[in-house]
Amino acid sequence: MHNILPIGVLVSGSGTNLQSLIDACQKKQIQAEIKVVISNKPDVLALQRAKNANIPAFVVEYPTQTDRNLIEKNITQILKNHGVTLVVLAGFMKVLGKTFLEKFPGRVINIHPSLLPVFPGMNAQKQAFEAGVKESGATVHFVDEGCDTGPIILQEKVPILKTDTLEDLRLRILEKEHIILPKAVDLLAKNKVKLINHKVHWEES
Ligand code: GRF
Repeated sequence: MHNILPIGVLVSGSGTNLQSLIDACQKKQIQAEIKVVISNKPDVLALQRAKNANIPAFVVEYPTQTDRNLIEKNITQILKNHGVTLVVLAGFMKVLGKTFLEKFPGRVINIHPSLLPVFPGMNAQKQAFEAGVKESGATVHFVDEGCDTGPIILQEKVPILKTDTLEDLRLRILEKEHIILPKAVDLLAKNKVKLINHKVHWEES
């Protein structure tokens, strides 16, 4: 019996990446179990998806006047209370600070809709589209204190076609996100990939 990796998923919106993780876990395609979902926004579809899958879900908002450290302490507490040992940012729109990351060293990953390090930050799909590059894609990376700057775990490319609209590109990238995020979680669950001294190490297969 392989040990099932207890994960926590942080979301901010539609939750299609969360859904890909829910489906992969339910179909036992990955060796993980989602223990809790945390959204920084109320009333987003991601929370409905968690509810439909009977996964405990919490809203932790970021009121402007509240110290970010306090908010992150709350998030940490919820994750720890649910026994989470891998934190997955799936469409989560907030940057997590040093104190939070130190509570989960080498155990926070993020999905980003470009081939990092190219096009970090917001609207990555639009950045690629407007830059006129011929390809883009999706990246799963370990989260460090920067914005989309952590060591890379998996990437998948997509072509950008002359006939594409931005939405065509966004959806083509999203399809790849839904493949590589569960795959990265499974690799971590099986200890096939690790972060050691800020470098990604692959188990000799
Ligand atoms: C995805 O493209 C993700 O990469 C970006 O937010 C988009 C929506 O994600 N960060 P989801 O549908 O909420 O998972």
